Amino acid sequence: MYSLLSHNTFGIDVKATRFLEYASVGELKQLIVQGAVTTPFLHIGGGSNLLFAKDYDGLVLHSRIEGIEVIEETEQSVSVRVGAGVIWDDFVAWCVKNEWYGVENLSLIPGEVGASAVQNIGAYGVEVKDLITEVETVNFKGQERVYSVDECGYSYRNSVFKHTENKTVFVTYVHFRLSKKEYYTLDYGTILQELEKYSKPTLAIVRKVIINIRESKLPDPKVMGNAGSFFMNPIVSREKLEVLQQEYPQIPYYELNDGSVKIPAGWMIDQCGWKGKTLGPAAVHDKQALVLVNRGGAKGSDIIALSDAVRTSVFQKFGIDINPEVYIIDNG
Ligand code: EPU
Repeated sequence: MYSLLSHNTFGIDVKATRFLEYASVGELKQLIVQGAVTTPFLHIGGGSNLLFAKDYDGLVLHSRIEGIEVIEETEQSVSVRVGAGVIWDDFVAWCVKNEWYGVENLSLIPGEVGASAVQNIGAYGVEVKDLITEVETVNFKGQERVYSVDECGYSYRNSVFKHTENKTVFVTYVHFRLSKKEYYTLDYGTILQELEKYSKPTLAIVRKVIINIRESKLPDPKVMGNAGSFFMNPIVSREKLEVLQQEYPQIPYYELNDGSVKIPAGWMIDQCGWKGKTLGPAAVHDKQALVLVNRGGAKGSDIIALSDAVRTSVFQKFGIDINPEVYIIDNG
């Protein structure tokens, strides 16, 4: 049995029957040819967006494919190929250092580059799908396939790689296109307000501001186990919003291109009075109600019990079912 404690930021003390890592596409293919990749298996990244409900009775795979390589450069932009095992924030720091624009709002997101392309990570008005051009993969049979960004089927925190039938496809490299021309995305939340302290934005300053905002709201998994936002922000019709506005005129929302709206689940959970509340060893974070935390020694079932209680409250008050963003693993 292999301990997964250091492989999940929720800090749940669970085990897998087997654990395998590989550092190259060649090594992965060799493992497959040797028959070492047996079912059931689960491919993880940094373990920052998953919750183990119990021990995993199967094989856990993890990529250690490293490397950031420039593959094309023009006057306007640079295209890079990044290994799935690269720490996401190391990649962001590298782009900022090179003065390449685009990923700075995604500073300090935990996890690895491979998972960023599976999950379509996003924060502060930027989603990674807008920077990805291609995703290189190997499936469990050892076949390679490159997905163009359009083939990845990206939407809010979703991609084809999250669909059940594609859980057998492993991301090996992600290609990003970054801008060499100065541009920023500053219209989310308090970014502009925070920037007022500086004479003019630079990439390094924007990165610093984003890191400050994140650190003020989101708990550090090294200090208190968590997986960032536990729930997705639900997407509802404009009619539903208008009904809610009659009772809650101050309800925050973001308009989407198709006319529907996204309502912050954190606001609704907060309105239900859950912020800072505990249930056994699990709690709703006291600075951001969308985040559930492990107060120490929690089992997956403790976090799930809290999540169920929170979902029920939100449904009773707002008539909206909120769904986990975190991937709950309860099989194997
Ligand atoms: N709000 C409250 N109370 C709370 C939390 C939020 O009233 O306890 C309100 C805020 O005042 C604000 C609104 O809800 O009006 C949105 O809050 P915030 O800007 O903190 O963002 P979020 O919608 O709660 C999303 C992402 C985060 C990302 C932030 C910033 C999801 C599921 N979460 O959270 O992503 O960092 O926006 O862009 O989309 C993650 O995915 O793990 C994650 C942390």
